[in-house]
Amino acid sequence: MDLSSSTLCPQNLTKPYFISFHKQPHIRSHLQFQTPPKTLTLDPKFTITGGCKLSGHVPISGSKNSALSILAATLCCSGTSKLHGVPNLSDTRTMASILRSLGAEIEACNGEMWVNADGVGSVEPCPEDIGKIRGGFFVIGPLLARFGEAVVALPGGCDIGTRPVDLYIRGLRALGAIVELGDGKVRAQAANGRGLVGGRFKLDHPSVGATETLMMAACMADGVTVLSNVAKEPEVIDLARFLTGSGACVEGAGSDTLYIKGKNQLHGSECVVPPDRIEAGTFMLAAAITRSSISMSPVIPSHVACLIDKLLAAGCKITCAHDTLEVSAVPDDVGHNLQGFDVRTCPFPGFPTDLQPQTMVLLTTCDGSSIVEETVFENRMGHVRELQKLGARIRVCGSTAVICGKEKGSALLSSHVVAKDLRGGVSLVLAGLAAEGVTEISGIAHIDRGYENLDAKLRLLGADIKRLIPLASPL
Ligand code: EPZ
Repeated sequence: MDLSSSTLCPQNLTKPYFISFHKQPHIRSHLQFQTPPKTLTLDPKFTITGGCKLSGHVPISGSKNSALSILAATLCCSGTSKLHGVPNLSDTRTMASILRSLGAEIEACNGEMWVNADGVGSVEPCPEDIGKIRGGFFVIGPLLARFGEAVVALPGGCDIGTRPVDLYIRGLRALGAIVELGDGKVRAQAANGRGLVGGRFKLDHPSVGATETLMMAACMADGVTVLSNVAKEPEVIDLARFLTGSGACVEGAGSDTLYIKGKNQLHGSECVVPPDRIEAGTFMLAAAITRSSISMSPVIPSHVACLIDKLLAAGCKITCAHDTLEVSAVPDDVGHNLQGFDVRTCPFPGFPTDLQPQTMVLLTTCDGSSIVEETVFENRMGHVRELQKLGARIRVCGSTAVICGKEKGSALLSSHVVAKDLRGGVSLVLAGLAAEGVTEISGIAHIDRGYENLDAKLRLLGADIKRLIPLASPL
């Protein structure tokens, strides 16, 4: 049965039947909380009619990447941890499933999660779940620290580079663990048969995940650990804040050196997951790309400072009041087309790699040519081929892309495109908002991994976007 055919109209019921989610958001949220029956997993799509101006206010959800590492850290804690503002995403649901596979008890309701790991009876989380997300691998730190051993499959996640785990392995060895990689799994145990021992480790480069995992491991090691050349991302600070609230002794989060004095036990604590800076950045770029004016909250302006600088240089107007940020690129406000700019992605506080694909879309609508250099991941240009299908004029050489602006021939026109990873996928949605005609995007499961209710939020702002879920005709 040809499922790739266009949306079905009622008269020909012989073909599969698409449900269109553009008027009944309550139905969608119902579907989110249940594992969809097999018939419903057949490649949902977005269709976007481009050219609509956006306006109004959009709520920003809790940070996916902070929530994932904090959920992993609950394994370090005795008693119950209570998390507020956990975004309802397939990634956070997968993380919950990983914790449950170890024996943790989890309750979730409306963004609140209660996690109790006292019942953990396994040190080998579900390999299938680990294979779905990168963040799942972070549990190796708390498991080794609390139980003295761990067996964790190699992680999955976005296909944007080789993404090895050598820094995790060498860092855990520096904390007194025997660590072996074999059969697609990492097996680790405390060399002294009891627990980890404080030590010194310098990361070759400031890996976010390795920093977070080694920080969690060191929190329950015997003695003091010094981790240098660590990541300074806000998510690292959010994790350190949760661990400190749970009784850990972590100093230096946000700088390039962490000092951690190990404790025998940590206790459950309560925390609010801070807002997602990448989601906020994505909506800021949506406003600029559609030449609109929108506001959003909560946003921590310092978390998106790099993007603010670039958008101001391009000619946008940006105002921040407390935790509300407003971006305007309305032609009357800016008086001329936006100017292109060059970007070089870097670890925080540099320009975030997770906003690189979305920024490329903006640059195709600006004046002038722009250069985007990706330095964090060696294979994060996969979205370019799909953007070219939408009329973007982009040349790629290795990890550098040259983007031709509007007057140099880029003219976004609708087409059928495929999302192949999270941020590359959302860049296609932003391009669809600006493209002439109706764009169809498949593979949107990638986007649902990291954006909560993206289509509903965009409709709130006036976008014409539909979520189509094909229903296989009853057998
Ligand atoms: C985190 O990934 C985020 N994911 C990523 O967000 C984000 O792009 C990335 O940090 C950089 O900001 C989560 O937090 C779950 P890294 P992570 O380790 O920790 C190399 C999104 O879209 N490396 O900082 O996996 C690695 O290959 C995702 O939300 C090693 O060589 O990123 C990469 O080139 C995508 N050896 C570089 O470091 C190691 O042992 C940076 O990766 C570890 C990493």
